[in-house]
Amino acid sequence: MATNGEEQQSQAGRHQEVEHKSVLQSDALYQYILETSVYPREPEPMKELRELTAKHPWNLMTTSADEWQFLNMLLKLINAKNTMEIGVYTGYSLLATALALPDDAKILAMDINRENYELGLPVIQKAGVAHKIEFKEGPALPVLDKLVEDEKNHESYDFIFVDADKDNYINYINYHKRLIDLVKVGGLIGYDNTLWNGSVVAPPDAPMRKYVRYYRDFVLEINKALAADPRIEICMLPVEDGITVCRRIQ
Ligand SMILES: C[S@@+](CC[C@H](N)C(=O)[O-])C[C@H]1O[C@@H](n2cnc3c(N)ncnc32)[C@H](O)[C@@H]1O
Repeated sequence: MATNGEEQQSQAGRHQEVEHKSVLQSDALYQYILETSVYPREPEPMKELRELTAKHPWNLMTTSADEWQFLNMLLKLINAKNTMEIGVYTGYSLLATALALPDDAKILAMDINRENYELGLPVIQKAGVAHKIEFKEGPALPVLDKLVEDEKNHESYDFIFVDADKDNYINYINYHKRLIDLVKVGGLIGYDNTLWNGSVVAPPDAPMRKYVRYYRDFVLEINKALAADPRIEICMLPVEDGITVCRRIQ
């Protein structure tokens, strides 16, 4: 069994070997999107946090810059004010959310790892949006259980972004069961990485990185479950590694 250190080292190697996670088949086209639309509009703190995160050994976990732009647009379109994020890492999608929301908005942000959040925190503070964030360290599920216990939290969230734990289909389904009560009717839940490196359409014997193959079946199951849920409308978008936006309708 790998020790913690060995596990971290092997994860670091695994993450550094991939340059980006976009499911776009053309690198040139992805670069075109970044250079034409995304980078020229990227706020300075987002750029600073992106560059800081790029130096971290687990940098493949971060949300990409094109996803920042998408989240920013989505949050503003729905006038989101009360939001939640599961899976923060160094905080790139969290900062994107905090910058898009009005000054009196709230984001409940959860991650089992505070250290990585604290790497990005100075940038978030400098951007003047830290007051919108309540960070909770630890697994998200017990926090969701607590929230669901209290009826006043039901139908109270405008937007929930789930970017953790995709290695566990059961966890995702457990999240979904609770989040559906917590999000408003008409509110949105975004599940990240639902196209999983494009592996969702690869034949079972296709060559795949080990971690891609390992998580692929979980992602396929999650996608099936979301598509079959009558309480939501869904839209699966090929932004970055795939994001499924779910709109609660009942
Ligand atoms: C893909 S990263 C999140 C990336 C982040 N959204 C960003 O923009 O950089 C996934 C994160 O989920 C966290 N995580 C894993 N299991 C978790 C759990 N049970 N509850 C909360 N966070 C968890 C990991 O520590 C990791 O930081």
